[in-house]
Amino acid sequence: MKTIIEPFKIKSVEPITMTNRVERERFLRKANYNLFKLDSEHVIIDLLTDSGTSSMSAKQWAAIMQGDESYAGSPSFHRFQKAVQHLMPFKHIIPTHQGRAAEKILFSIIGGKGKYIPNNTHFDTTRANIEFTGAIGVDLVIEEGKNPALEHPFKGNINLERLKAFIEEKGVENIPVVMLTVTNNSGGGQPVSMANIRATKEICKQYGIPLFIDACRFAENAYFIKIREEGYAHVSIENIVKEMFSYADGCTMSAKKDALVNIGGWLAMNHEEWAQHARNLLILTEGFPTYGGLAGRDLEAMAVGLEEVVQEDYLHYRITSTQYLGNHLLKAGIPIVRPAGGHAIYIDARAMLPHIKPLEYPGQSLAVEMYLHAGIRACEIGTVMFGLQPDGTEKEAAMDLVRLAIPRRVYTQSHIDYVIEALTEINERKHELGGMKITWQPPQLRHFTADFDFIG
Ligand SMILES: Cc1ncc(COP(=O)(O)O)c(C=O)c1O
Repeated sequence: MKTIIEPFKIKSVEPITMTNRVERERFLRKANYNLFKLDSEHVIIDLLTDSGTSSMSAKQWAAIMQGDESYAGSPSFHRFQKAVQHLMPFKHIIPTHQGRAAEKILFSIIGGKGKYIPNNTHFDTTRANIEFTGAIGVDLVIEEGKNPALEHPFKGNINLERLKAFIEEKGVENIPVVMLTVTNNSGGGQPVSMANIRATKEICKQYGIPLFIDACRFAENAYFIKIREEGYAHVSIENIVKEMFSYADGCTMSAKKDALVNIGGWLAMNHEEWAQHARNLLILTEGFPTYGGLAGRDLEAMAVGLEEVVQEDYLHYRITSTQYLGNHLLKAGIPIVRPAGGHAIYIDARAMLPHIKPLEYPGQSLAVEMYLHAGIRACEIGTVMFGLQPDGTEKEAAMDLVRLAIPRRVYTQSHIDYVIEALTEINERKHELGGMKITWQPPQLRHFTADFDFIG
């Protein structure tokens, strides 16, 4: 069959409040044209993030009722630990309330002034947690990964030559770990190949540096390996995942992505001393090592989510439905980062709206119009997010993108068709869209709270 259906039936529904343009103009004016400041009940299709927005299955909800809330030694922890170790066989599994808590603990132990942490591309919380310790996060993604229009099967790969040269230049003693983010969120949700993971491990082994994986979207990455990398077409997703992690010495994880839950994460590793130190820090800020920052029921939901996320029918639907959105936008003449990522489509707003200068925020203008036109909420990833410099000046970001992140198991094909129709209509009258200005901003992370208005 050519039609790929959602491999689930809907048992419980959450109504969407339908709104019209006049109402949405009022809501957005009140939010000072910042989509983060909208009430979500005023959004028809919410593509702001894929993080923590998954629908849980009936089996996960049932598991929640099995949650054991004992302070120490809960059987829910043991079920969670077993589910993680089944896929990622690390010795120490340390639950945290989300991914950034795992990062905070890891870099508090191994970071510090004079240290460097290379990655394909650091996610912003990872970089922030590294830099908070005085260390420096370095992005070494391959050149192809920086060109939005270029097709390449594994644009998330790290540049192996540059990694080697970087280690030589900075010295092994200053590089406590090398990281790989799968898939590469900040680089467009692009996957890393098994060959690249293996070769990164070889380099790490040569220099005696541990390799850590930022595992948020490990299952989506494994599916890309299965369909794009030679030799994996007949290997099960579980075995691909196991091979990916066999090359690593640890991982950080936001379970809000590929563990199909609304909150959770973990830090995992083999290193005895680091793990001991991590558990001590965990107790300070998160909680006892058998629950981390979570309830027993959250651990149960993650354990079941990990079984479900590696099912091939689910991943086939997941990756194909994201590609479906990307292909239709391309057909409508809308420029996107190519090829389609696993969890999101990124519209190249700078290319779509060349009449809006980067410092007049083409991404924000497009995101605002998507909301006004059809009640769709997306996220600007461009000059608004990255343009503000530490000295208070502003410069254009490398790209002006609008990210359409797809929550897992939440929207059906007709919801996605609605998004395609809305964007096609906006594209037909794109010259009517104008630039925007910021009327108020905080000193850091301005995209979350800044106020905007139209120019003119
Ligand atoms: C690649 C990557 N790493 C880390 C994180 C941080 O995870 P959390 O939001 O659970 O703190 C995210 C979240 O989006 C991510 O995409």
